[in-house]
Amino acid sequence: MALSRRLRAVADMVPEGLTLADIGTDHGLLLCQLVKTGRIPYGIGVELNMGPFRRAQAAVRESGLESRVEIRQGNGLGPLKPGEAAVVAAAGMGGGSIRGILEAAGWIRQLQCLILQPMTEVAEVRYWLSGHGWKIIEEDAVKEGGKYYQIIKAAPGPAEELSPAEAHYGPVLIEKRHPLLREMAAKDFRVLQGILEQMANASYMDEGKSENFMKSQHRQKALWMEDFMEWL
Ligand SMILES: C[S@@+](CC[C@H](N)C(=O)[O-])C[C@H]1O[C@@H](n2cnc3c(N)ncnc32)[C@H](O)[C@@H]1O
Repeated sequence: MALSRRLRAVADMVPEGLTLADIGTDHGLLLCQLVKTGRIPYGIGVELNMGPFRRAQAAVRESGLESRVEIRQGNGLGPLKPGEAAVVAAAGMGGGSIRGILEAAGWIRQLQCLILQPMTEVAEVRYWLSGHGWKIIEEDAVKEGGKYYQIIKAAPGPAEELSPAEAHYGPVLIEKRHPLLREMAAKDFRVLQGILEQMANASYMDEGKSENFMKSQHRQKALWMEDFMEWL
């Protein structure tokens, strides 16, 4: 089965010739495709849930790749020993789950690189990377089914401080002026404006500290986004 545009973009970031561990492998497609095309010599898929775990095992069997793709059942990087893989991919999961997975393994800085495609909280993932000694070295963005996806490749390196725009839209995507940046940011900005309008209309309500905090967060975001949109 062919890879979706999103998974294709993840696959294109994988360095040639190194063992890849795919965390949250689900259907196992990424590893099967990369091994089949010879881009990687060996792949280890980790899957938390039994249904997808069995599905991935079946996909490997059906492709005749049992000697080159191994599927393990477990949580995050737990089923991996340090040194077994040089590259870790985590795609199609929420940003909070991805951060949790990375945080739980003390040895990940031994890896050559991480390839991450968070479905949510992309900025928080980038802040986590920059705060934990990871340098963002490559990025891509794709649009599929009306949704935007960002893919981040990071290697151990000196910590970088990120501006809010860099955290949300990627230092490399911004540097490259990626063709999807403008529409991706414009869509977010429209959503943000809608939230701010709703908040303004609800201003008669008795507001607690958390509502006020949210409001100021959204207003701050609107300020830097206005500048960013202008720059774009
Ligand atoms: C939406 S799928 C994404 C599959 C594939 N990586 C992709 O991008 O198409 C997420 C998969 O991650 C698995 N998963 C979620 N949390 C996990 C964890 N902590 N460790 C391993 N697998 C996990 C889920 O069971 C699910 O199969």
